[in-house]
Formats: sequence, structure tokens, C-alpha cells
Amino acid sequence: MTGQPTVLLGVTGGIAAYKAAELLRGFQKAGMEVRVMMTEAATRFVTPLTFETLSGHQVHVGEMLRADSTIAHIEEGNVADIMVIAPATANTLAKMAAGFADNLLTATYLAYAGTVVVAPSMNTNMWRHPATQSNVAVLRERGVYVVEPGAGELACGVYGSGRMADPESIVAEVKYRLQVERKTDLRGLHVVITSGGTREPIDAVRYIGNRSSGKMGAALARGAFDRGAVVHLVKANVDLPRAPGVTEIETPTAAEMYQEVMRLLPETDILIMAAAVADYSVVAPAGGKIGKSHADLSVSLVPTTDILCEVATRKEGKQYVVGFAAEYGMEGLARARDKLERKNLDMIVFNDISRSDIGFNSDYNEVVILTPQGESRVERAPKETIAEIILDHIARELRSRREEFLPVT
Ligand code: PMT
Repeated sequence: MTGQPTVLLGVTGGIAAYKAAELLRGFQKAGMEVRVMMTEAATRFVTPLTFETLSGHQVHVGEMLRADSTIAHIEEGNVADIMVIAPATANTLAKMAAGFADNLLTATYLAYAGTVVVAPSMNTNMWRHPATQSNVAVLRERGVYVVEPGAGELACGVYGSGRMADPESIVAEVKYRLQVERKTDLRGLHVVITSGGTREPIDAVRYIGNRSSGKMGAALARGAFDRGAVVHLVKANVDLPRAPGVTEIETPTAAEMYQEVMRLLPETDILIMAAAVADYSVVAPAGGKIGKSHADLSVSLVPTTDILCEVATRKEGKQYVVGFAAEYGMEGLARARDKLERKNLDMIVFNDISRSDIGFNSDYNEVVILTPQGESRVERAPKETIAEIILDHIARELRSRREEFLPVT
């Protein structure tokens, strides 16, 4: 897993296949990770080794029936933020329009739930043919973005339209689509985010608390709202400006936060627990102010309810649940992994709270995102950037969960 967007580049068998190498470099220069899939016909124009060398990843080729390919058409689609078929031949466009899944690339297209961009490339007459034009119209109707071919001298020596759009235009279109998509990829989802630090009263004026500022939670709430989610921010003792569009609910103590999260849970699609929730509360807080007359003073503490553990027992499999692990030192990474399993989470975000330049009450964070599938380190960055990367991971995961694929036999 990485924080960069991943492009799945499908290369089909046309003379413009050689330009796909330049296109791949263009995606990389724009900060994208690229995986490549080729049809058998494409390998007659350019070898898989070219793309393997440039992308740094294995290239999947050809037919569905290869043992290793049966999973590739799902796996590659799952990691991709966008699928780009360039060049897209008349033959592949026709198969896509008709719903054929007779090779790895067309099967992947059918199984893929994200945005698809195609850059057609063919002889002028083939491009103008009513069959091709009607296939392209069908694909457009279904939400496929078409980067129109340009006019120029074609490989067959004829001048006309059908030449694959130049790589810069395709990269620009993909960048634009990723931006638009990112803006709406949580549209309509109900996201609950907890933030801040709970305070457990000792008496009417004193409490046991922590240094959480609520900045991490606020960045996540703003990011989720910007991506179209309906956001509830359940916050404890946070002194930050209100985030526009976000419903904020005050829950000063762990018990109140627990109540609120449970109240919202049935309607929640994504729960992100960024709050520093007290692990203990005082058994019987004094009603007034405890005076100084005591020679010594002790208070009895009792464990608070672990909100995430409760959620795990009640969530009925629907919600995507994210915890944070505030650990002292990098050796806490193993404990974070343990929390991921023990609290039955979909994701846990580890941060090292021994550092003063990240984490508690800092504008920055540096995290490791852990899921049952793997882990990804995110370098020190403003909390807004960290929030975007966390939300990217969640959106990608949800997209792959929405996929319903019927294997081709
Ligand atoms: O608010 P900031 O100043 O921006 O700082 C951000 C942060 C450091 C507080 C944040 O990034 C962070 O690490 N939050 C989690 C803090 C924490 O309580 O970690 P933990 O490892 O003790 O708990 C693990 C998870 O269990 C957390 O998601 C926590 O919310 C949850 N928990 C803890 C106790 C409890 N009773 N119920 C819970 O659900």
C-alpha cells in the first residue's frame, strides 16, 4: 500500500502501444504508481519487460486461463484508483461495450468498480465506423471517459483521426478524474469521527485528562466532508474552530463519548476513533472541590468501557472501523498490530507519541497505517495530508468491498 494514487494501465495491441511506455513515465512524474496489464496482441508491439522495468511491478498478460491470472483481474483492480486503457483498439472497445471477458484485461474491466479512462487508437476508417462509434457511445453512457484520438498521419500512411491522444493529454485527464473522484468518493456515507481527549472528573473542578488537541480528528472530519460524507464529529474538550458542514457533538467524558458513539452506530458507515479516550475514570468523583486538608489523597480508578471493543461486538459487519494507536516509541508498532486484531478493526493508525514534533497537540503527524492486508508508512506531514491519505485508503477499501464479481468459467 502507498499514499500515491495507483493507475492500472491496460495496453492493447495497436501500434501506439509503444507510446504507453511514455504514458507510464508521465503518470509516474505526476506522482502516481503504475501497474500494467497487457493483451497478448500488445506484447507483439512492446515486451512486458519494458513495462516491468519502468513500473517496477510484474506485468500481467493475456488470457484468463493462466493459473496466476485468475486472481490478478480482481487483485489488480482492487489496488487501482483508476483504470486507463491506452491504446484502446477497436477490438477491445467492442469487447468492453459487449461485456466480453475473454482475456485478462477485459475481465478486469468488468470486475473493476472504479473510474475507467480509454484512449482509442486505430485507423481513421475503423474509428469512424458506425460500429466503433456506437461502442464508444455505449461506453460513455456507462461512465467510461474517452480521451478522443487526435488527427495526424497514421501508421498506415493515411492522414485523419484515430491517432492516440498524446500522453500529456491522457495524464492530464487522469489527474483531473482522480481529483474529481477524490472529491466525491465518500458521497452519502455516514462518517463518525471522535476527537480530542476525554476528561474524567476527580471533583467538581479537577480531572484526569490528556494533551489531545483534537487536530487529527478535525482534519479527518474536514477531509471526509470535502469528499461528500455526512460527518458527525464527536469531540471531547476541543478548542478549535468549527468545521463547516460537520455536525459536532460535545462529549467531555469517556462515558459520554461511549453513549454518543453507540447512539450513532446503527447509522454509521465509517467510524474513526482518533480521540484519546481515558482508560480509567474515578470511581466516585467528589461533588464539590476537594480541600487541601488531607495529609494524602488517593482516588480509586475503574477501567472505562472500551468503545472500540463494544463496537466490535455490536457492529454486525456493516461498518468500517478505524482505531488509532497512541504508542510510546516505535516498538509500540507490535502493540498496534495486536490492537488491530484484538479490537477486530478494519484499520489502525499507529503514531509515536514519544515525539514532540508529531502526534499530541502538533499540526503534524507521522503514521503507519495497518490493516489485516498489510501496512503502509506515511512520512511526517501536516495532519490534513495524513487525513487525506487515511481517507484514500478507506475509500479504496470500500470500493473494493462494493465489488461483486462473478468468476468467468
Ligand atoms: O488530538 P491531537 O492533538 O491531534 O492528537 C492526535 C492523537 C495523538 C490523539 C491521535 O492521533 C491518536 O493517537 N488517538 C488515539 C489515542 C488513544 O487513545 O490511543 P490508544 O492506543 O490508547 O487507544 C487505541 C484506540 O482505542 C483509539 O482509537 C482509542 O480512541 C480507542 N479507545 C481507547 C480507550 C477506550 N476506552 N475506548 C476506545 O475506543
